[in-house]
Amino acid sequence: MCGIVGYSGPKEPLPILIAGLSRLEYRGYDSAGIAVSDGSEITIEKKEGKLDVLKEHLADRKINGNVGIGHTRWATHGVPNDVNAHPHSDNSQDFAIIHNGIIENYAEMKESLLSENYSFKSDTDTEVVAVELSKQWNGNLLETVINVAKDLEGTYALVVTTTKQENTIVAGRMMSPLVLGVGEGEVFLASDSAAILEHTNKMIFLENGDFVEIHDGSYRLFDTELKEVEREIQIIDWEVSEAEKSGHEHFMYKEILEQAEVIERTINGRLEEDSVEIPISKEQAQKYDKIWIVACGTAYHAGLFGKDLFEKVLGVPVSVELASEFRYREPIVGKNDLGIVISQSGETMDTIAATELLKENGSHVLALVNVVGSSLARMADSVFYLHVGPEIGVASTKAYLGMLVGQLLLAKHWDSKKKLDVSFEDIKGLPVLIEETLKCEQEINEIAESIYKQNDVYFIGRGLDYALAAEGALKLKEISYLHAEALAAGELKHGTLALIEEGTPIIVTASQYHLLDKTTSNVQEVKARGADVIAIGNSSSEKLENISDRYVTLPDSNEILSTIISIIPLQFIAYHVANKRGESIDQPRNLAKSVTVE
Ligand code: F6R
Repeated sequence: MCGIVGYSGPKEPLPILIAGLSRLEYRGYDSAGIAVSDGSEITIEKKEGKLDVLKEHLADRKINGNVGIGHTRWATHGVPNDVNAHPHSDNSQDFAIIHNGIIENYAEMKESLLSENYSFKSDTDTEVVAVELSKQWNGNLLETVINVAKDLEGTYALVVTTTKQENTIVAGRMMSPLVLGVGEGEVFLASDSAAILEHTNKMIFLENGDFVEIHDGSYRLFDTELKEVEREIQIIDWEVSEAEKSGHEHFMYKEILEQAEVIERTINGRLEEDSVEIPISKEQAQKYDKIWIVACGTAYHAGLFGKDLFEKVLGVPVSVELASEFRYREPIVGKNDLGIVISQSGETMDTIAATELLKENGSHVLALVNVVGSSLARMADSVFYLHVGPEIGVASTKAYLGMLVGQLLLAKHWDSKKKLDVSFEDIKGLPVLIEETLKCEQEINEIAESIYKQNDVYFIGRGLDYALAAEGALKLKEISYLHAEALAAGELKHGTLALIEEGTPIIVTASQYHLLDKTTSNVQEVKARGADVIAIGNSSSEKLENISDRYVTLPDSNEILSTIISIIPLQFIAYHVANKRGESIDQPRNLAKSVTVE
C-alpha cells in the first residue's frame, strides 16, 4: 500500500524514480509524485491519477538533482487529488517527504501547529510531519527526523530530503516496509525490493525503529537513540524479468500462466522425507495441542484448505481465523499451540498484529510467506518460503497456489500415520498437472462470454471444494466488480436458494470424489430453479456432467491434487470475465497490493 522509491548516487534521479514507481504502481495508483533536490532547491511534481498522468506531465521536463524520492499513493487521509498526492512539503518548501502508513495522532498535531500559525494545503496526515520537521529543525536531518518520529503514533515508512542539508535523504520505518538497496556508490530505497531489483540484488530490510542517513551514495543505519546499528545485507535471487509482463497484457495473466514453473520451485528440495526445507519436524508437529491458521483475503482462503489437511494428519483442532478479527478478540491461545500465519507479502498489518498476539501467548509461529526478508518472515519462529517469485497483479493467483501446495507439503511431512492419500511422487507430478489444466483456457473464455453481462454469480462446493469456491468468488468480484458469493453447497437451501432464478450462473467445484453425490444433489436443487450450471470436476463424474449446462473436465489425478488444480479454471473465469468487461485487471478500483494499514 503506497509505493516508495528513493535514490542517491551519481546518476540523475528522475529516470530511476519513474522506473521504480512503474514497478510499484500495484501498491497504489490514485496519484503519484516525485521530489528531486539539487542541494539548493527541491522540485516537487505530483499528479492525481495513474502514474502515466505524471509521466506525461514530466515528459519534456529536465529535472536535475543529486537525490530524489518518489511515491504512488493509495489514499487514506484525503481524496485522491494533486494536492493530497505525495511528496508533501513544509510552509517554506525546505523539506520534501513521502510516507506509507497512517499517523494516528495527526489531527492533534495539526491543531497545535495551526494554533502556532503554520498552514496546510492538504488533508493528509503526511503534511503534518513535513511541517513538524521545519518546526523542530535543529541543523541535522537525521536527528530532526528521529525527534519528530518520536512524537508520531501509528505506522510509517518515511523518506525525507531537504535543502538545508545537501545531498541527504533520511528514512525510517515503524511497521510499514522499507528496503535499502545497496549498489556500487549508489543507494536506493523502496517499499518493495522488486522496484529496485534492476539496479541491485543486495538489500537491507529495515527493522522497526531503524533510521537510515543516506549521503552521496553511501548510508549509515541508526536506532532511535542515534546509536549506529548493523543490518545484514541479503541477496535477493528473484530475476528482474519475473517482475515484468514479458509480452503479456496483464501481470495477472502472466502469473496464471507461469504457475507450473513456479510450483516446481515451491516443491523443489521438499519432497524427501526429513527434508531440511521443512521448518517443523514430524516429531515436533505432533506435540501441539491446537493449530491457529491466521491470514487475510486470499491467504485466509488458502488456510481453509489447510485446516482439513492438518486436522487429518495431526488429529488436533485447527481454527482458521481472519487476522482482522482475531487480533481484536480474546482467543484462548495456549503456550503449546502452533500458529500458522499465511501471507504473500509478509507485510499485511492485520496478520502482523495477529502474529504478535500469538507470540505474546507463547505459541510457536510458522510463517508461510512469499517475500523474502518481509516483516512476517522476520517475526516468525519458523519460515516456509513459497518461492513463487514476485507477484505484481493485485489479484493473487500464483501465491495462492503456492500457499495450497506449501500446506500440502507440510501436512505430508507431518503425516506419521499415513492418513493423506497422496504420495511425494504424486506431488512431484503437480507441475505437469498444472500445465495440463492450463489448457482449459479457451473453454473458459467461452464460458466467460455467458457470464460477463450478469450481475450475480454464485460459487458452490463442499469440503475442500468450498475453500476453492470462496477464492473463486473473491477473484471474480475483485477484478470484474460483479457480485459473487461462495457457499458451502449444503447451505444453499438454508436461505440463498431464494436468490436463484432462471439463468442465474452457478459455478460448482466438485473435485472431491467422496462428496460428489452430495454436491450433485445440490446441483439438482439449483437446476430445478432454472440456474445455469457450470461445473468443474473429474472425468468420472458423469452424473454431474449430465445435469450441468457446461462441464470443465480436470485432468485425471489424485483427489487432493485435483482440488488444487481446480483453482486454475476459476482464475481464468475471473480474468476473462474482467477482460470482456474492459476492467483494469492489474489495478482494480479501490484496491492495492500489500495491505499495510488496518
Ligand atoms: C486478493 C488478495 C488479497 C490478499 C490479502 C492478504 O486477490 O490478494 O485478498 O490475499 O490482502 O495479503 P497477503 O497475502 O500479502 O497477506
